[in-house]
Amino acid sequence: MWKGRFQQETSGLVQRYGESISFDWRLYQYDIQGSMAQAEALARAKIITRAEMLLIHQGLKDIEAEIGSGKFEWQMALEDVHMNIEKALTAKIGAPGAKLHTGRSRNDQVALDLRMYCRAEGGAVVELIRGLQRALTEVAMRWQQVIMPGYTHLQRAQPVLFAHHLLAYVEMLERDAGRVQDAVKRLNVMPLGSGALAGSTIVLDREFIAEKLGFGGVTHNSMDAVADRDFAVELCAALALCGTHLSRLSEDVILWVSAEFGFVTLSDAHTTGSSLMPQKKNPDVAELTRGKTGRLYGNLMSLLTLLKGLPLTYNRDMQEDKEPLFDSFDTIKLALEVYAEMMRGLKVNEKAVAAAVADPFLLATDVADYLVLRGLPFREAHEVVGKLTAHSLTTGVAFPDIPLETYQELCPLFEKKVFKVLTLDHAMAARKATGAPSPANVARELAVWQSRLSPKRAAAKRAKAPPR
Ligand code: ARG
Repeated sequence: MWKGRFQQETSGLVQRYGESISFDWRLYQYDIQGSMAQAEALARAKIITRAEMLLIHQGLKDIEAEIGSGKFEWQMALEDVHMNIEKALTAKIGAPGAKLHTGRSRNDQVALDLRMYCRAEGGAVVELIRGLQRALTEVAMRWQQVIMPGYTHLQRAQPVLFAHHLLAYVEMLERDAGRVQDAVKRLNVMPLGSGALAGSTIVLDREFIAEKLGFGGVTHNSMDAVADRDFAVELCAALALCGTHLSRLSEDVILWVSAEFGFVTLSDAHTTGSSLMPQKKNPDVAELTRGKTGRLYGNLMSLLTLLKGLPLTYNRDMQEDKEPLFDSFDTIKLALEVYAEMMRGLKVNEKAVAAAVADPFLLATDVADYLVLRGLPFREAHEVVGKLTAHSLTTGVAFPDIPLETYQELCPLFEKKVFKVLTLDHAMAARKATGAPSPANVARELAVWQSRLSPKRAAAKRAKAPPR
């Protein structure tokens, strides 16, 4: 492509070192869509004729079909997706193909392709997040009555509903979807026309191209437009945080399926056996997801490190942006998909959970609250119940079995009613502030999520969104 100035062929090693076609071929559809819009703009500016534009369009469509059917031969010597397609076009249609790159550089071309890729993949990730949110909501509804111990410091703390625990992840995923959508909104500006860095003396109608390709507007600084990869960083950050959430869910699941907890069972289809120990049933999906979170962090670090020392504008270093970005999308998409499937197959072992949540110490705070409601300052109530706990631990007698007289020796405010406080039903119903896990609250939250996540509602929302 640059043979005019050079007298030697590029060394084979340099070709191998510099090629990106082995991974950036994945941008081909965006590259072709961008080139079709570019050709239209060239025709409108009378740089090429309408007949030439039609030839370019037909040639690009043929190439797209060839790539789609696996017949297209990618050539390493042509470096990247942009030059492979351009060369094939010129081979097909001759001179008009050689006019396509007028007023354009690979620098604004790759910026365009990447933005279009991120926009499409961002949308796909949001859909998959919705799928997992839906699965979690379904599982929560199926086991809506189950009360389980909630933990802090991984020590039994206070009772919660299992559904409330799952809905915590639905909230996290909602923020993840929001971050991705926010990044996509910001990246949706069209960089073509920025040229290599300083625009072009061949002036095309950029707004027209933007409109054709479904962008909300155009970039306003040609140097920023070819040097900017903020959108890739933002998305990798959003996906890394989404990975953090899946990893925490994985940790919960791994604990729950252990014999020590025994709270849930995963389906055989979503677990694996051991080649050595016949009794084993391992939560590999959860472990892999926890492990893959490391790659998501690594990809984000790669991108940030890649960009930090680059002077304006485009530098070839930036070719290294693609593999981490692609890997983050590939990794999170598969994780979200497999997680939705696995969670749907989860069964709660109600007996084991009931046994764990029957631990009366889970209600220690409720006893202290009982005293507070009768006028005792919380700190004093805390001490009284602390002594009651010590008594229970040394005598081995649980809260509900300790005689009322003993309660009253510790604090005269205790009456028979305290034993009602020591029931789970009372404990759950009492937690009725907004966001707390009373059964009525959780039922309301489940209904809200179910309607928000209904496929009907999602379709209506998509129909309202601007065209992509
Ligand atoms: N393959 C290149 C990349 O991904 C395309 C841009 C090349 N630009 C250049 N001036 N060599 O970054």
